[in-house]
Amino acid sequence: MDLRSLLGVDTPIVLGPFGGMSSVALTATVSEAGGLGSFGLYGLAPERITAIAAELRERTARPFALNLWLPFQGLGEGAPGAGFDRAEYDRAIAGLADLFAEAGVAPPEWPVAPLPAFDLQLEAALAAEPAVLSFVFGVPPTEVVDEAHRRGIRVIGAATTVPEARALEAGGVDAIVAAGVEGAGHRPSFLADPEAGLVGGLALIPQVVDAVGIPVIAAGGIADRRGVAAAFALGADGVQVGSAFLATRQSAAPEVHRARIRTADAHETILTRTMSGRAARGLPNHAVRTIEARGGRASFPLQNILTGVFRRRAAELGEPDLLSLWMGQAAGLAHFDDATEVFSELAAGVPDDRA
Ligand SMILES: Cc1cc2nc3c(=O)[nH]c(=O)nc-3n(C[C@H](O)[C@H](O)[C@H](O)COP(=O)(O)O)c2cc1C
Repeated sequence: MDLRSLLGVDTPIVLGPFGGMSSVALTATVSEAGGLGSFGLYGLAPERITAIAAELRERTARPFALNLWLPFQGLGEGAPGAGFDRAEYDRAIAGLADLFAEAGVAPPEWPVAPLPAFDLQLEAALAAEPAVLSFVFGVPPTEVVDEAHRRGIRVIGAATTVPEARALEAGGVDAIVAAGVEGAGHRPSFLADPEAGLVGGLALIPQVVDAVGIPVIAAGGIADRRGVAAAFALGADGVQVGSAFLATRQSAAPEVHRARIRTADAHETILTRTMSGRAARGLPNHAVRTIEARGGRASFPLQNILTGVFRRRAAELGEPDLLSLWMGQAAGLAHFDDATEVFSELAAGVPDDRA
């Protein structure tokens, strides 16, 4: 099926979800423009999920996606849903001491509260009945895909390699995000090591397109009409864009973060586990370098929860040195402050027969 009919949109452009940094304003703006706005539910309690879906419905009657992280345990990572290890907490707190002090906040006390349970998040997301549920870090269980379909919800998964794309298709998803290494934020690998086999979009997109029979949405490094046109030329059915939208005034990113996206260069970003414990692409700053130098980093998700305490304060202070400056390799192509302008620029690259 054509991606536009599948998602119920006019233009095959998807706003990537930003777990922890999504905004209702940005999601609704992209959906209203004729694309698919996504909202990242990472770390949100079920009541927040219900409230956000209601807010989105107040802002737009058009389709939107809600995005969940599956409870995946990567190599060297903590078990999802399990309690945290005290010794690991002590080591991580010691390693982060300077950063807490610089932000002027106390480290979180032991025991650290875990993330909301996935099953409860899922229940709330399904009950909200968005047009689309998208998942990262694995293949959603068959009963989840079936239940989504029973409710008329389309399901999208994300792949960083051809075997991951095949596994998602076998798992019954309706479309696949082919996530190239260029992309911002966490690299959603689940069969491959996220730091090995760093496949870029130019190679990944056509190979995923050849490997599966369902629509493919290209993500990573696309920020203007040229990137969109290239993705379609490689066989993609749509594109998912993050950084260029994150840089706009409708986004929830702090102003200093948005400004850094617009001035970054392609070579400046790195994949790093320092801030969250899981490999993610962003700009190396003082916080990243300090954690690298001090060591003692905790595994995901504990490290992300701990750094979140000083990151929240840094966002209030407008202090970029203590933020997670997630952005992709095409950040330097992000010039617009308004998400509607980003959307028009991207839409100009969609081939006429798909627009
Ligand atoms: C701050 C931030 C948070 C993100 N969180 C998520 C997430 O929770 N789920 C997800 O599927 N993708 C997430 N992503 C990836 C984006 O949705 C998108 O796929 C990616 O940014 C595309 O690459 P680009 O930035 O080069 O356009 C995140 C990206 C950023 C910048």
